[in-house]
Amino acid sequence: MGDPLKLGLAGLGTVGVSVVKRLASMENELAVKAGHPIRITAVSARSRDKDRGIDLDNYAWHNDPVAMAKSPDIDVFVELIGGDSGPAEEAVRAAIKSGKHVVTANKALLAKHGNDLAKLAEKHNVTLNFEAAVAGGIPVIKALREGLASNNVSRIFGILNGTCNYILTRMEDEGLSFDECLKDAQRLGYAEADPTFDVEGNDTAHKLAILTSLAFGTRIDVDSIFLEGITSLKPADIAAADELGYRIKLLGVAQRTDTGIEQRVHPTMVPKESEIAQISGVTNAVAINADAVGSVTLAGPGAGGDATASAVVADVIDIARGLQLYTLGRPAGELQPYKRAKMRAHEGGYYIRLSVNDRSGAFASIAKRMAERNISLESIVQRKGKHQLKEERTTRSKGEKPQDVILLTYETTEEAVRKALVAIEKDGHIVASPQMIRIERL
Ligand code: NDP
Ligand code: HSE
Repeated sequence: MGDPLKLGLAGLGTVGVSVVKRLASMENELAVKAGHPIRITAVSARSRDKDRGIDLDNYAWHNDPVAMAKSPDIDVFVELIGGDSGPAEEAVRAAIKSGKHVVTANKALLAKHGNDLAKLAEKHNVTLNFEAAVAGGIPVIKALREGLASNNVSRIFGILNGTCNYILTRMEDEGLSFDECLKDAQRLGYAEADPTFDVEGNDTAHKLAILTSLAFGTRIDVDSIFLEGITSLKPADIAAADELGYRIKLLGVAQRTDTGIEQRVHPTMVPKESEIAQISGVTNAVAINADAVGSVTLAGPGAGGDATASAVVADVIDIARGLQLYTLGRPAGELQPYKRAKMRAHEGGYYIRLSVNDRSGAFASIAKRMAERNISLESIVQRKGKHQLKEERTTRSKGEKPQDVILLTYETTEEAVRKALVAIEKDGHIVASPQMIRIERL
């Protein structure tokens, strides 16, 4: 058995506390697997007095995570604070520059500074591990960086945010409100400190940006991601999708195209019988299409203390074992510049919900605008009932009763749909912005 590996743990929230508990409960077993005892020697958080349900007496306390990161009493700095700048970034940089290995669950930090941090880790000959940063307990970083290293990846997509999938599942299954579901996700420790990062899609984008780099050997470029979150979805959309044989999922998709690499995050209607539609609650799934293996799909818990701690501790074990890999799967200097594909060339079917004034000529005019853009309609359904939107009910005036009209298109381009919707809005037959959701037959 080798010398103990000494950890400094910054952040004692949902994930940090679970990591402390896991290391304690599996101490002997982990020492055998890693070849070294793994010991926390120092910790840092904001409040020393907070009751966290764990005993911190045996660890040196640091108010300042940066000072802890530089301390000679640690070998590995574990960053579980969060945020793409501030103390998390400063402490990670300080740790690397002091020759410490780093383990982080912080996708926001990696999405923004990953290229630079990878270079810095190489320069100082240390490991920067981040399995927990993408899809919680699913070992997808290991799969891409190691298990699938001999493949050329053509596409990677999936459900990458546990909070959003939990919200969408409960809204569909139990008819609960968005706010109620989000509160539960926060209570269960799934959501980010600022949950708008979850529901506006930023967290999925952070994770997708990291996966894209690993899958395609390109520099991380989170700013190029086309981004739509789930906040504009209404119960009417979820109910309509259900009736039409679909579920709505927030997907992150990255794929190689003739014009570059496409990265997009948006709500997607997927057929109920598809593999991805079966992924419910906090579960995440990542599907990888690659030349040698064909297709690999990994599914598992995407958020929560225990699942995330599983990935954090696995990263620590790899360091104890002496496994040292290039952070983004190849030397930082070999990563290619990211070339963005033309997003509007994306083809597929579309779900469109329009709140239409019920007056003569409205439907004919909508159908005409679609035809002008060569958009073929698979179906047009007029919906009435409890999912007629509240704000639309209040806008009714004499003789103009808005009705939800659902259009399903056949394959067409995003550009055609957007142009048709602009023309429909200009015609004045609809009373609210159109809802448009892409349909994917994955
Ligand atoms: P929490 O908000 O629960 O915990 C954050 C911790 O950081 C708290 O203990 C807080 O201290 C501490 N902290 C904040 N500011 C400082 C500072 N300046 N100095 C020292 N400590 C500080 O977050 P989570 O545990 O949920 O998440 C941690 C990281 O893991 C984030 O990057 C998150 O994105 C990521 N992650 C989270 C998952 C989850 O399911 N929750 C899953 C995968 C990744 P105090 O307690 O005293 O306020
Ligand atoms: N807030 C994130 C989620 C945590 O819900 O997926 C895991 O990264």
